[in-house]
Amino acid sequence: MRVLVNTEINGDVTMKRRNVLVFDAHGLLAEQLPLLVAADQTVHCFESVPAVQKMLAKDHCSVGLVVLDLLTPELREEVERMIACAPMMEWIGVVSPDSLASREFQTFILNAFHDFHTLPIEPRRLAMSIGHACGKARMRQALVSKNDGSGRFGICGTSPAMFKFFRQLEKVLDTELPVLLGGESGTGKELVARAIHNYSSRSGKPFVVVNCGAIPINLIQSELFGHEKGAFTGASQRKIGSIESANGGVLFLDEIGDLPLGMQVNLLRVLQEQAITRLGSTQSIPVDFRLVAATHVDLQEAIREGRFREDLFYRLNVIHMQLPPLRERAGDVRLLAETVLQNFSSGPTRRKVSGFTAEAIGAMELFHWPGNVRELINRVHRAVVMSDSKLITAADLGLAIFVQENQGVTLEAARASFERDIIESSLRANGNNVSKAAQQLGVSRVTLYRGINKFNIELNSKLSSDAKTGICQA
Ligand SMILES: Nc1ncnc2c1ncn2[C@@H]1O[C@H](COP(=O)(O)OP(=O)(O)OP(=O)(O)O)[C@@H](O)[C@H]1O
Ligand SMILES: [Mg+2]
Repeated sequence: MRVLVNTEINGDVTMKRRNVLVFDAHGLLAEQLPLLVAADQTVHCFESVPAVQKMLAKDHCSVGLVVLDLLTPELREEVERMIACAPMMEWIGVVSPDSLASREFQTFILNAFHDFHTLPIEPRRLAMSIGHACGKARMRQALVSKNDGSGRFGICGTSPAMFKFFRQLEKVLDTELPVLLGGESGTGKELVARAIHNYSSRSGKPFVVVNCGAIPINLIQSELFGHEKGAFTGASQRKIGSIESANGGVLFLDEIGDLPLGMQVNLLRVLQEQAITRLGSTQSIPVDFRLVAATHVDLQEAIREGRFREDLFYRLNVIHMQLPPLRERAGDVRLLAETVLQNFSSGPTRRKVSGFTAEAIGAMELFHWPGNVRELINRVHRAVVMSDSKLITAADLGLAIFVQENQGVTLEAARASFERDIIESSLRANGNNVSKAAQQLGVSRVTLYRGINKFNIELNSKLSSDAKTGICQA
């Protein structure tokens, strides 16, 4: 690695310097590089992607300049991964006019780069472009520090999947229609429900959460509708139910698929009449709330199996929003991990952990995250506590098995990933019944349990992961 600084201001320690990264595998820019270094910049020049990743794991960089000429297809892929891993940076490509002729190359440039320059470069123009990109990166970083993570509505994410989701959310905020949120466990359904409340005109009014799966069946009616004094044995006082408490605001019915059938009829009536009747009363009380419901199960299937009312489903599912699983949010894993680390390190624990090793980032990107963002938060928190050094390793995260060697996927990691997938899908298909899953997979229960332990698969992921650390809602 070569490091270049502008000697004119080298002694000025008061100036906040910006790191500019140059990836130049064949040293094509070696001669001109000193001309590009502006007064407030430090330029770090690399010839290999692993060296870049090592630096990015430790240090912050605003802009990356990539010489794209003479790259083998493998190296080009590495470069693409490198860019995808750094969503907070702006990238500038340097290419020969010949390579620009290909359509595929043009698409690559348009998708991945803030700007591009053709060889031979014109140092003044390139220096200006680097300056603009630094300004843009700085603006983005300022937004991130305000937001506690890059994203929108208090939700972290810059991947295409999340951008699409944010665009939908923007539209949803303007309406009063009911929303049904789908998505695997830990993808952020409750966070989104809170955003629908916080960023809408109802934000000054209550936000009431009802976890339909967690209330004992005999209490659910009084929990939702409230009761009058003496309505049943033990009803010593009047109780206002959750629906009435949400008046003017947002009612969030979590795990709506677990609502007992009998209660589904009552809820449907409330939605039709926009009024409730407390238990032990005959008086109908008008209620005005926006309904957001969430489920991690397939309600259509529940309807087919007679566990969910179709008419209620259509009432709830006026707007359907599906949160993508974390493994489909390219680039967000690193962003989330760094945001979680930053928030946790500045909290009361104040551990001296400053980042992740390149292997840790690689392993996190390879991992499948069955428990999604919640699992990522838990793993990072645990790693901060357990880490012995300034940088969190893949082993601290419990992901040593997913470490990539030579930037390729090792056979062991590929096997492990496949093995994990197949165990998980079999457990899911068999309702977490280990005996049935073992039978289906043709292994003994002991072998299956070994796999479950090896991959840290949680048979009841939601309950156990929350219970372990006590972290549920940020
Ligand atoms: N994109 C995100 N940015 C920041 N934090 C997030 C994001 N998504 C989820 N979280 C955090 O992850 C944790 C789990 O999210 P949440 O409880 O909203 O998930 P969920 O989909 O409701 O899960 P479940 O189905 O298990 O109830 C929370 O601490 C939440 O704040
Ligand atoms: Mg939830």
